[in-house]
Amino acid sequence: MKKIKVGIAGCRGLSTIVGLKSIPDVEITAMCDLDEEHLNSAAEKIGGDIKKYRIFDDMIESDIDAVIIATPMQCHVPQAIAAMEAGKHVMCEVTAGVSIDELFWLCETVEKYKKIYMFAENYIYAPQVQLVKNMVQQGIFGDPYYAEGAYLHNITDLFVYPNGKTSWRSYWQCGKRGNFYPTHSIGPVMQWFPGDRVTEISTFSPGIRHSHGLKQDSGTTTMCRTANGKLLSIRTDCMSPRPHKMDTYLLQGTKGIFESGLDESDGVNGFLDRVSFIGEDNPEKNMKWEKLTNYNMYLPERYKNATKEQLEAGHRGGDFFIVEDFINAIRSNTQPELDVYKACEWTAVGLLSTLSVTNNGKTIEVPNFRPNMPLDEKKIKL
Ligand SMILES: NC(=O)c1ccc[n+]([C@@H]2O[C@H](COP(=O)([O-])OP(=O)(O)OC[C@H]3O[C@@H](n4cnc5c(N)ncnc54)[C@H](O)[C@@H]3O)[C@@H](O)[C@H]2O)c1
Repeated sequence: MKKIKVGIAGCRGLSTIVGLKSIPDVEITAMCDLDEEHLNSAAEKIGGDIKKYRIFDDMIESDIDAVIIATPMQCHVPQAIAAMEAGKHVMCEVTAGVSIDELFWLCETVEKYKKIYMFAENYIYAPQVQLVKNMVQQGIFGDPYYAEGAYLHNITDLFVYPNGKTSWRSYWQCGKRGNFYPTHSIGPVMQWFPGDRVTEISTFSPGIRHSHGLKQDSGTTTMCRTANGKLLSIRTDCMSPRPHKMDTYLLQGTKGIFESGLDESDGVNGFLDRVSFIGEDNPEKNMKWEKLTNYNMYLPERYKNATKEQLEAGHRGGDFFIVEDFINAIRSNTQPELDVYKACEWTAVGLLSTLSVTNNGKTIEVPNFRPNMPLDEKKIKL
């Protein structure tokens, strides 16, 4: 089998090391980071004979086959386009881009060069998300019609780097209004509405209640309607004082409900992931909860058979399985399930939320990024 040589840009990309090293005939051969100290320590962590680059364009001129882009958000589209033009496959961190124009350029580049583009939305790969996805496919929830996803992560310690320099997060994330980081919530919940897409959004916030001197709201809630008439509530709060809870989800169907709980390590007073379904033993008038783990038989086989090392790759094993799917997509020359269109649709929800929240929650239609759409479907309609 032909060896696949991978280059990594940005230190967050080190989350893929366990995955990449455990797949036969895959080798990490290059590392890129603008910061020399980060570059050296990343290369040391990867080990072996690594070529080091400070400049991304230099790395993609080398003989790598694929690149993992884990640089700040505003670098994603320019670097992904440059990589595909240079003939490299791309796996790119969230979010896909920072403007709607960029998202269209990204789609056009994937269509033109036909390289693999995979969106590194790792929260989708969490075991509970995959388990619920399989249960939806088996019809256990009946017809799912409402879902919630929330990303609650106080990042107020990340605005300034330890060396005193201002971080990109002060601008591209929290220097703006609206939901700047929707994909960890919307990506997982859209797994439970296969074939559907978000067509309209409306965002509200309680305004700015913090004193960090940045424009970001003290949390936002974005209501999303899908093409099939389903409703999603997507909340992001990175500014409020509270413990982290990045993977909060709910799914309601005609036959039952899933509600995510706390990880066992999170504390004492919470509940674990739970479900309830109407049945003879569980009448609608007096429905009781049971543990989601009672349904572990619906976990995908590869999750049941995962090794300890794979599960420890990060995000409950998500950081391993995502890499496996990227390499499989390259080998089969087939765009992955997390393709460029999903990347753009989910990212657009966040970008449009800025327009909505600053216009009193105005409903905004999400442009259609799919190929061969009429021009009218590709614009932002106010
Ligand atoms: N999926 C997840 O769970 C997850 C978690 C954290 C971060 N992220 C994403 O990963 C990305 C990076 O976030 P982070 O927290 O690691 O940021 P960071 O600021 O801590 O690190 C960014 C790194 O990229 C380097 N860099 C900056 N510009 C560069 C360029 N042009 N070329 C090469 N290197 C460059 C910096 O020197 C730095 O080492 C972001 O897009 C973020 O949204 C995703």
